[in-house]
This record gives sequence, structure tokens and C-alpha cells, in this order.
Amino acid sequence: MRLDFTNVDLKNINNYEEKAMDAFKTLIDGSGEGNDFLGWIDRPNNYDKEEFERIKKTAAKIQSDSEVLVSVGIGGSYLGIKATEFALDKYFNSDRKVKIVYAGNNISGEYMADLLDYLKDKDFSVNVISKSGTTTEPAIAFRFLKEALEEKYGKEEAKGRIYATTDKNKGALKDLASSEGYQTFVVPDDIGGRFSVISAVGLLPLAASGINIDEFIAGFAEGREIYTKEDFENEAIKYAAVRNMLYEDDKDIEVFVNYEPKLQYIAEWWKQLFGESEGKDGKGIFPVSINNSTDLHSLGQMIQDGRRNLFETVIEIENAKKDIEIKETADNLDGLNFLAGKTMNYVNKQAMEGTTIAHVGGNVPNIRIILDEVSAKSIGKLYYFFEIAVGVSGYMLGVNPFNQPGVEEYKAQMFKLLGKPGY
Ligand code: PA5
Repeated sequence: MRLDFTNVDLKNINNYEEKAMDAFKTLIDGSGEGNDFLGWIDRPNNYDKEEFERIKKTAAKIQSDSEVLVSVGIGGSYLGIKATEFALDKYFNSDRKVKIVYAGNNISGEYMADLLDYLKDKDFSVNVISKSGTTTEPAIAFRFLKEALEEKYGKEEAKGRIYATTDKNKGALKDLASSEGYQTFVVPDDIGGRFSVISAVGLLPLAASGINIDEFIAGFAEGREIYTKEDFENEAIKYAAVRNMLYEDDKDIEVFVNYEPKLQYIAEWWKQLFGESEGKDGKGIFPVSINNSTDLHSLGQMIQDGRRNLFETVIEIENAKKDIEIKETADNLDGLNFLAGKTMNYVNKQAMEGTTIAHVGGNVPNIRIILDEVSAKSIGKLYYFFEIAVGVSGYMLGVNPFNQPGVEEYKAQMFKLLGKPGY
């Protein structure tokens, strides 16, 4: 994995070096705000080995008795799982050992009714994930799923099909799990939701689906080796510095761009990471994403010609798992014989290069992140890169990157409308 800043004007970047290096030191020595949430930094090397083995055993059990695992969670208890398993699956004819479906990431009654209907003739288990153990969306979803499991298997067997991932000691989910006797996994105190995919939050459902979690962790560990180096050539620090430089030049929207549909949920994970970490105190770069070439036919116009307040971060994959050659036809009725002998990925790459030239020409600076391949390891490394980058970037911006006070506001208003006692 490497970054390419060729399409950003770096003439002022040296003005940001000192600030970036100070922010990096603040992050690594744990002297900044939010320093009680830095457990993710060393986690790739000091994770709980006993729990890791238990996760593997549990995953094997789920594979042996379930066709479907319902992963119940929202925000950091959902996005990393979805992003990783979607990126690593085939587009069609999934090769997952257990199909993962999601609940608790919305409050749609129609979605829940359809899900319960879908589960009726399936053997399934449930992994309910909530660090706080009190989040409304997963709590409501779990109430329905627990009932469905108990109806299908009886209370005793249902218990053996419910796995709770939550705080070690507190929260409604922890209390429920203890009183019902569910197997539990821990979301560490010092790892915030959006950084938690490396914990049991991500590892259990990913392992159950058949993803190699040793490789996934190895990717994080490789990221730690590289991106915790105190050096301005460290690309996580550089990315943070470039973002802040662009922000001060009124580029306050960052568009995360992919040309491979399987990366679309990595963009969603990235949006939570950067949005919740930086959007506070009236500041922050607004993170958005597009999936190309699809969105070149919708948002492409805005990016090319709209208000000049954005920059792009493009993910390029060097080695796709598969490719397919375009053949010549005798009649050339569609006029595409000029592409004969070329592959679709080649055409996709030219779309990326052409779009980059057009957007950069339209005053949209363009950062490129080049991934060798999409694998459990490369995704782990990419996540770690972004996590270090957001810590540095947030401190450069002057915010606490590890809290999310604004998330509470909607809850208070919603609970008031719902008549929750105390609101
Ligand atoms: O990053 C965060 O902390 C939040 O967005 C949480 O991930 C989200 O609110 C879910 O919280 P919990 O895991 O406590 O249910």
C-alpha cells in the first residue's frame, strides 16, 4: 500500500510538518484529549489471545449449526463488519461459510418484518453487539430476534445460539447476557466504537463468515509497524497534514472514491471514522463517498463543475482477483472493437485516470491510495492507516478525535417524543 500526492499542490506542505509531527507525538505518547481511548494503537500486538481462540471455536460452532448469522449492531458495531465481509466476498455466488445478515442498524419495521420472515426456514444464530449495551436500535432488533430464536429452538437451545459482544462489566446488554447465560465477548474499555473492528466486535462475525482473522490482525500489525514511525514520510502523518492543508484552503469536503463496488462499505466505515472523529466544535472536513464509474453519471457533474470546496481521496486496487477480456465482434455494431483485446479492468483504470485528469483540471485536488490487492491483510492494514491518520488529523484540527458528544442529541429528542421516562 502506498499514497500518491502528485495531484495535490504541496508547495505549502512544509508549513504543516511541525504541527503534524506534534499531533502525531500527542497521539502516540497518549498526552492528548481522549487518551483513554487509545487501546487500538497497540491492540494488533497485545490482543487477548485466549478470547481470540474462543472466537475461532465459536465461529466453528456457528458454522456447524447455522446457515445465517444475524449481526446486530450500529455505527462502530456494524460498519467494520459489513465493510470487511462485503469487500472480501464474491459479487455473486457468495463463498461465505455462514451468510451474515444485519439488524439493529436501522429502525425500519418493514426491514425487521422481512428479516424475520427470511429467517423462518433458516438455521440461524445471533451476535448482538453493543459497546455501551444501551443503544436503542440494536436493543429493539435483539428483542425481536431473541423471541424468534426462542420460538424456533426453545429457550435453552436459543441461549446457545446467542452471542453478546459488549462491555466487560456494565450496560443493559451485559446484564441481560449474565442473567440469561449467553456467551459473551468483550469490547475493550479503551477502544471506541469506530476503532473496534479489530476487537471481538469484528472478529467473531468475520471469523464465522469464513474470513481468516489471523490475516486480518496481521494486516493491522503490519500497519502498526509502518504507521507509528515518527517521520514525516510516514504516509498516515502526511495524509493528515495534506487534509489539514486543504481544509485551511477552504476544501472542507473530502470525497472518498472507489472504482471497485466491493469497497463501497469501506467508504461507509471511513465516513464514520472521520465524521465522528473530526466533526465537532464547529469544525471538520465533511466526509462523503462516491462509487465510480456509477456516480460519474450522477455526482460527477457536481465534482467537476460545482462549488470548489472539495478534494478527493481515490482508492486504486493494483491487482484485482479477476478480470475479463473484451472480444472483437465481426460486425462491430456497438463500435467497441477499438477495445478488443483490452480487459474491463484496463478500461476501469483508464476511467480512473481520465477522471483524475478532469477533476484535477477542475481544481479538485486528488490524493491516491494504492492497494496491492483486496485481502483480509490489506484491509486490516488500510484500517490501521486511517485510524492513525484520523488521530493525527483530529489533533491538528484542535478537536478531541476520540469522543462523539453530538451523537447524543438526536437520542434525547427521539426519547422525548417516544415518552421514555426521564426525557
Ligand atoms: O463510534 C461510536 O462510538 C458510535 O458511533 C457507536 O459505534 C454507535 O453509537 C454504537 O454504539 P454501541 O456499540 O454502544 O451500541
